[in-house]
Amino acid sequence: MKSLLRVLKQVWILNFIRRIYQASKYYNYKYLQILKWGIASREDTNYTYHLTSDNLICLAQTIALVTNKDYQTIIQYINELENNKELEKYLLEATQNSDERKFADKEARYGRRVGWYALARAIKPKTIIETGVDKGLGSVVLCAALEKNALEGYQGRYYGTDINPKAGYLLNGKYKAFGEILYGDSIASLSQFKDTIDLFINDSDHSVNYEFNEYKTIQHLLNPQSIILGDNSHFSNSLSRFSLENNRHFLFFQEKPKNHWYPGCGIGISFLK
Ligand SMILES: C[S@@+](CC[C@H](N)C(=O)[O-])C[C@H]1O[C@@H](n2cnc3c(N)ncnc32)[C@H](O)[C@@H]1O
Repeated sequence: MKSLLRVLKQVWILNFIRRIYQASKYYNYKYLQILKWGIASREDTNYTYHLTSDNLICLAQTIALVTNKDYQTIIQYINELENNKELEKYLLEATQNSDERKFADKEARYGRRVGWYALARAIKPKTIIETGVDKGLGSVVLCAALEKNALEGYQGRYYGTDINPKAGYLLNGKYKAFGEILYGDSIASLSQFKDTIDLFINDSDHSVNYEFNEYKTIQHLLNPQSIILGDNSHFSNSLSRFSLENNRHFLFFQEKPKNHWYPGCGIGISFLK
């Protein structure tokens, strides 16, 4: 066998085919997943998926480090969201009752938003801003965290920004009591904002400069405990650069989607210790 391989390696074309086959093994399964997704899913943008169980453990470990809490506390927050049947039912109904149902799946899949939730539960923010709302999945997840915090005596308010006047249809029902959407250009809305921001999530215009300018716009509203999350940090260095320029720590958590072709994005985390 070893000598056959040695012969194969010496013939350029055979070695080429062997090497291409070896490399393509990492991707071929993805095409099968793309085919399955093409048939079973209705989504065509802002893909949703669950994270693998190992990935959720890494996420909990990362958040525990950032928030100075123990791992068990954070994994319990993650499980709290994953087991929230009321929220799951609400999202299913809100999606089915909307005009957007043709482009949405029936199952609620939070992906990296599980990390947003756990952070909001851990630091009990008085003010959360999420720029870029889309359907409002992040909005509802964050408002669900604020609802649980309120039951524990910690009040907080969510503000989403979106340039699309139709964005945010999922933020409704009892979750609407915990937040609102500021319609218009995100930087214009942020420029008017006056309160201290405890948790800021960038997920609007994903150009590198726009993202950086959002951070610059809210810089004076941060306190030493404020945490900034970047939803574009798998692609842009804006949050890493902003963190360096402002002596803040920066970490990147990489998503590992479960049974999905999408390679995953992640969460950039900027914080002070
Ligand atoms: C990736 S989606 C947001 C997804 C959402 N955060 C979630 O958790 O599902 C990006 C959103 O940013 C909005 N957007 C793009 N440019 C914007 C801008 N300049 N100001 C405000 N919103 C903007 C888009 O309308 C879109 O709804």
